[in-house]
Amino acid sequence: MSPARRAGEAASGETTGAVLPPLRIGRHVIESPVVLAPMAGITNRAFRRLCREYGNEGRVIGGASGATSLYVSEMITSRALVERTPESMRLIEHDPDESPRSIQLYSVDPATARAAARMLVTEDRADHIDLNFGCPVPKVTRKGGGSALPWKKDLFKAIVGAVVEEGGRRDIPVTVKMRKGIDDVHLTYLDAGLTAEAEGVAAVALHGRTAAQAYSGTADWTAIRMLKETVTSIPVLGNGDIWSAEDALRMVRETGCDGVVVGRGCLGRPWLFTDLAAAFAGTPARVTPTLGEVADTLRTHTAYLCDFYGEEERACRDIRKHIAWYLKGFPAGSTIRNSLALVDSMAALEALLATLDPEVPWPGEAAEGQRGRAGSSRTVALPDRWLESRELSEEHRRTIAEAELSVSGG
Ligand SMILES: Cc1cc2nc3c(=O)[nH]c(=O)nc-3n(C[C@H](O)[C@H](O)[C@H](O)COP(=O)(O)O)c2cc1C
Repeated sequence: MSPARRAGEAASGETTGAVLPPLRIGRHVIESPVVLAPMAGITNRAFRRLCREYGNEGRVIGGASGATSLYVSEMITSRALVERTPESMRLIEHDPDESPRSIQLYSVDPATARAAARMLVTEDRADHIDLNFGCPVPKVTRKGGGSALPWKKDLFKAIVGAVVEEGGRRDIPVTVKMRKGIDDVHLTYLDAGLTAEAEGVAAVALHGRTAAQAYSGTADWTAIRMLKETVTSIPVLGNGDIWSAEDALRMVRETGCDGVVVGRGCLGRPWLFTDLAAAFAGTPARVTPTLGEVADTLRTHTAYLCDFYGEEERACRDIRKHIAWYLKGFPAGSTIRNSLALVDSMAALEALLATLDPEVPWPGEAAEGQRGRAGSSRTVALPDRWLESRELSEEHRRTIAEAELSVSGG
């Protein structure tokens, strides 16, 4: 069954034409200028497949043609990749029909970043490499990694330059994803954007928050506009707080960005990619699934996870974190929600989903809006005296070498 039918497509209206020209990421032409944000523990091959199917369906609804959107893997640490850990090797897998094959790398060291990129390029494992400089997790920033790294201009430049050079051997474009900076007084995005542009990246994406904000407050879209006005020769992508197709269109209008990066908005709502493709093609069609159609999507997501992990138990453990997002706003009681959040087999999942009333209509506003991480702002954990200089000292070089040893998503 097609994703749009599964999700109950709203009546399609008139097409007014594409909102933006196709997004060019190096040699790739992305017809619908939408990027699935890399999300650790979420954007594995299974979830990307689901989003891709919905994005493709939106292309049909919107009437656009060519490549659809870009779906980025969750971040993979360069060091783990160079060591070929089984987990990182699984995370870089793509479906045979996934194109372009996009991989996000996290690195704190130019030599390791180069080795990881060389491996991806020479072994033909990716068509696009994104670099993560946005991770705000304390255990990462405490060592100077993630969103703390662009503060050290020379290190940032060296990592980006090394990966761009390796990508260039096979015409693999490299992009940079970053935050505004460490906090409101230590902003890095404008100089980092210019450095990335000069080093030859194919696009830069900005999450309009500082590391200190984590996921709190609202994303600052003015900063995205500033970056767009500053970095002029490559596409600038806007990221942060896109919860609907209308938000995406508004971000483009308000910032002039060349495309949007969507993260939490599609959690438990992969059909957002149908809406986004339709919206950027200029049609008002939006997906408003019934509870039965949402249950079908949840079932499909779990089946794709079974294929990804090669084992049902692991797939069921993974899908548990998605349950609350899928059911957001629907009148499903706490008993069923709690049972689904503990599901341990496909049979149990089927039995529980069968108890839901498939005819319950899309609840509208209650199901929309913010989902996923929120939290509060904080003081960013940094290495001692990190902020004193924008060049990397010998002492900090040693600290940062440890930053890749234990990381999670950003
Ligand atoms: C669960 C989770 C995991 C994330 N993992 C990554 C990651 O691996 N790499 C990265 O660059 N950003 C990561 N992010 C940040 C998102 O890519 C995105 O920048 C952020 O969520 C803001 O966009 P949004 O408002 O559309 O969610 C993660 C975010 C979440 C919620």
